[in-house]
Amino acid sequence: MKNVKFETIVTHLQTYGFVFQGSELYGGLANSWDYGPLGVEFINNLKRVWWKKFVQECPMNVGIDSAILMNPKVWEATGHIATFHDPLIDCKSCKSRYRADQLIEGAFPNVDAGKMNQTELMAFINERNVQCPVCGNHNFTDIRQFNMMFKTHIGVTEDSQSQVYLRPETAQGVIINFKNIMRTTRGKLPLGVASIGKAFRNEITPGNFTFRTREFTQLELEFFCAPGTNLKWFAYWKEYALHFLKSLGITEGNLRFRDHDPKELAFYSKATSDIEYEFPFGWGEIWGIADRGDYDLTKHQQYSGKPLDYLDPETNEKFIPCIVEPSLGLDRLALMVLTDAYEEEELEKDTRVVMHLHPSIAPYQVAILPLSKQLSEKAKEILAIINPHFNAVYDETGSIGKRYRRQDAIGTPFCITIDFDTALDQSVTIRERDSMKQIRMPIEELIKYLHVKVFY
Ligand code: GAP
Repeated sequence: MKNVKFETIVTHLQTYGFVFQGSELYGGLANSWDYGPLGVEFINNLKRVWWKKFVQECPMNVGIDSAILMNPKVWEATGHIATFHDPLIDCKSCKSRYRADQLIEGAFPNVDAGKMNQTELMAFINERNVQCPVCGNHNFTDIRQFNMMFKTHIGVTEDSQSQVYLRPETAQGVIINFKNIMRTTRGKLPLGVASIGKAFRNEITPGNFTFRTREFTQLELEFFCAPGTNLKWFAYWKEYALHFLKSLGITEGNLRFRDHDPKELAFYSKATSDIEYEFPFGWGEIWGIADRGDYDLTKHQQYSGKPLDYLDPETNEKFIPCIVEPSLGLDRLALMVLTDAYEEEELEKDTRVVMHLHPSIAPYQVAILPLSKQLSEKAKEILAIINPHFNAVYDETGSIGKRYRRQDAIGTPFCITIDFDTALDQSVTIRERDSMKQIRMPIEELIKYLHVKVFY
């Protein structure tokens, strides 16, 4: 992505079926999005490569898939019911609604208002005469704290007994299963538990397309370790996470760590750092890596009345494990990868839109393109050879040039062209997306060749 407007990328993703407006048929539901046929292939690939890196290639880690609805005591214990709030403020003149910290940062981009408490936010708005971006007035209500958890009810009665919450993070579904996981895996510390699932937050100001939404997917790792080793593991997972993004081909200059300063840290955390990406709309958090100390397990032990300590078999010492948590938003990861991959490339006589996606995460790895409809039988034979190994798309309509452009625009790394010689020499032409170079290859060598190129 070089000097491309964010709106251009959003339009591209909607035009090709990566993302659709949610509930579009009924006029839409604000800030909700559906992944279309290309988008779902792409995000499933992202989940798969993350799982491979954070579970299957890490002998210390296992996985879990926990329920969205949990006993509300979980959220009492963690403090979410009491404190999972955002500072809400309204313009009295035009009734526009804001998150107070974002209102300040919109007017003063160099100020980090996320660090301010409610009194400091209000004082800043008054003293610096912050204006309403919609009507320009300075006439705001007081700040109220707004709880971001979605509530619903279980069963037929809607009373306070039946009230439950849609989880605002997947992490707690992992943490409350700590004992079950240790018992069934015969695990020893350090041990990481990964999970992928939906989380819900009633954000005051969702926006920037799929960057901030009320329903999103998290890829979280809860890494349980002995007290005193947490900062070592914090540093380890920080680098591991950054390496993962680089291995997907993300431009390094568009990535940075933002270490939280001591004032921002939760009282139980010794260190927290975000990996941020520079979108066309500015830097945005993709991945939060946090030392959570023994806060979560201590709280769950207190509220459940059940012991959540660990007996170290080597030292015979009992302690509550600490947690280091790299927490990644799938939708932000997807938006970052797609933004970074997008290019409007100047060619000698032409321009093309090309998505430079890593072959392993592109929606399709291969496109099968017969030069003429008369070759469709042979082309479909080749499709049947490729399909069990790679996600392949078949296209026989339009000129070959236009078909290449369409595949470039959706990020397909390899196009296989079937021509009139194919039946005679049992060979095809493979065109590589980024270099546009073409090579001739026997059909029987295709799978081996592609495996090497696509492998992640
Ligand atoms: N368990 C820790 C936790 O949930 P967080 O920083 O609140 O920490 C982690 O969220 C990640 O989830 C963020 O870095 C971001 O990628 C993603 N995320 C959070 N809120 C989001 C939202 N409203 N829309 C999309 N992604 C979001």
